[in-house]
Amino acid sequence: MVGSRVLCSDAVARITSDKRCGERATEQFAPNLARLEIDMRQMALIGFLQAQNCSNFSFSWRHPDSRTDFTSPDYYAHIARVLEEGKFHMAFFDDRLGMPEYEGGAYQDAIENGIRCIKMDPMATLMPMAMATTNLGLGATMSTTYYEPFHVARMFATFDLMTKGRAAWNIVTSLNDTEARNMGRDGSIAHDLRYDRADEFVEIVMGHWDTWADDALIVDKQSKRFGDGSKVKRLDYQGQYLKSRGPFTVPRSEQGHPVLIQAGSSGRGQKFGADWGELIFVVYPNLEVAKKNYAGLKEQCAATGRDPDTMKIAHLINPFVAETRAEAEDKLALVETLPIEADSLMLLSEALNFDFGSKPLDEPFTREELDSMTGLHAMRDRVIEVRGPAPTIRDFIEVTERGRVRDPWVGSVTEIADRMEEWFTTPACDGFVIAASCVPGTYEDFVRLVVPELQRRGLHHKDYAGTTLRENLGFVRPEVGAWKHRSNA
Ligand SMILES: Cc1cc2nc3c(=O)[nH]c(=O)nc-3n(C[C@H](O)[C@H](O)[C@H](O)COP(=O)(O)O)c2cc1C
Repeated sequence: MVGSRVLCSDAVARITSDKRCGERATEQFAPNLARLEIDMRQMALIGFLQAQNCSNFSFSWRHPDSRTDFTSPDYYAHIARVLEEGKFHMAFFDDRLGMPEYEGGAYQDAIENGIRCIKMDPMATLMPMAMATTNLGLGATMSTTYYEPFHVARMFATFDLMTKGRAAWNIVTSLNDTEARNMGRDGSIAHDLRYDRADEFVEIVMGHWDTWADDALIVDKQSKRFGDGSKVKRLDYQGQYLKSRGPFTVPRSEQGHPVLIQAGSSGRGQKFGADWGELIFVVYPNLEVAKKNYAGLKEQCAATGRDPDTMKIAHLINPFVAETRAEAEDKLALVETLPIEADSLMLLSEALNFDFGSKPLDEPFTREELDSMTGLHAMRDRVIEVRGPAPTIRDFIEVTERGRVRDPWVGSVTEIADRMEEWFTTPACDGFVIAASCVPGTYEDFVRLVVPELQRRGLHHKDYAGTTLRENLGFVRPEVGAWKHRSNA
C-alpha cells in the first residue's frame, strides 16, 4: 500500500508506539486518529448511467435479469437508491443527441435490435432520482455545440438549487454527424474548433453562475426590499464565437455552482479538461499507461494555476463480481452471449461517422475510406496501428470491441477490491466510473459485495461528509469568480 494510507498508518504507528507516554498518549491523540481517518484520501465512485433502453453496452437490455421498465420513473429512482445505499458520490447520465444509424440514414437495425435507440432527456430523467435520494450527486451530459450557454447555465443552476447542491454537468463537444443533422446542421464542427468554442461556452456558463453574489437576495417583506441590485452583475460577454449579455436569472446554490465533468481524450480534449474539469472521466488500457497519463493530466492541471487536488480523475471499469471467481466468470460468460454483429456495426458507424454496413466484413478499407472517417480518430488510428494500413471491418470490431464487453474486471470480491486499491493507491486514478452490463444488477452486486470491502479497507467513505456534491468529493465551495484567477482565464 502506498500514498496516504501509508502516511496514515505510519502516523498511527508513531502515535501508538510512543513508549514515554504509553496509554496516555493514545488517549491524548485519539481525536487526531479520528481526524486522520477523515483526512484519508477517499475513492470517488460514480455510476455510469444512460436514460435509455440499455447501458453503454447496447446488448445490456437482452440480459435475462435486466429490467425493461426503462421509461418509468421507478426504474431510475431504484438505481439512485441503490447507489446512495453504496454511498456512491454520483450517478451520471451520458448522452448523444441522435440514434445510431448507418451512414446514409438506415436506422431500422437500431430499433429492431434495441441498439441505443431510446435516448430520453437526461435532466428530466434525473428528477425521480433526485426525489428518491438526499446525498447522491447527480450529473447530466449537455453539449456545447448544440445548446446555448445561457440555456445550459440556467438548467444546471436550477437543478443545483432543486437538489440542494448535488448537480454536475458533463461537458461534451459532440462528434456524431447524426447529432448534427438532428440539430439542423449538415455535419459536425472540426475537432479543435469544437473545443475553442467550448472554452467560450464554459466561460459564459461560469460567468453567469458568478454574477449573483451570495448575499444578493434580501427578501424582506417589511422593507419591501427583494434583493440588492448592486450585487447582481451583468455578464456582457463577447467572444470570437459566442456572446451573451445577462443579467442571469438564477441565484447561486448551496455548493456555489454545479461540478464540471469532462472526458476528452485527445490532446486538445485533455487540455480542455485540465482547464475546466473538476471530475475527469478516462478509459486507460492498463495500469502502466494509467499511471503515466494520470500524472501527466495532474501536471497539466497544475500548469494552469489550479491545485491538482481540485481535479479528480475517475477510470471507467466494467466489473463482473461475485462471492467466488468462478461465479464471476459465469456472469461474464453469460454476458458474452448477448452481443450481435449489428451492435458493433452500428456503434462503429456512430463513433466514426462512416457506414460500417456498406462493405463485406473481410474487405480491406481503402485509404480514401479511412480518410473519410470523421469521428473518433484515435479509435481509427489504433486499428491501423494494430492491424496495418488496410484493416477490414472485422479488424475494427475485434480491435475496438465496440458493442462487446471491453476489458472486463472479473473476480471475487477480494480480487476486484485488490485491483481497485492498486489503481487508486499507485496512484493511477482518484476513483472509478462503474459501467453496467445488467441494469440494475451490476450496481446491486457492486454495492452489496464490493462497497463493504472498500469501506473495510478505508478506501471508500462509510457515510457522506455533507449534503452537497462538492462536500462529498472533498472540494471547497468556490468563491464568486475564483476560476478567473487561474493563468488560463
Ligand atoms: C466515461 C465517459 C463518458 C462519456 N460520455 C459522453 C457523452 O455522454 N456524450 C458524448 O458525446 N461523449 C462522451 N464521451 C466522450 C468524450 O466526451 C470525448 O468526446 C471522447 O473521449 C473523445 O475525445 P476528444 O473529444 O478529446 O476527441 C465520454 C467519454 C467517457 C470516457
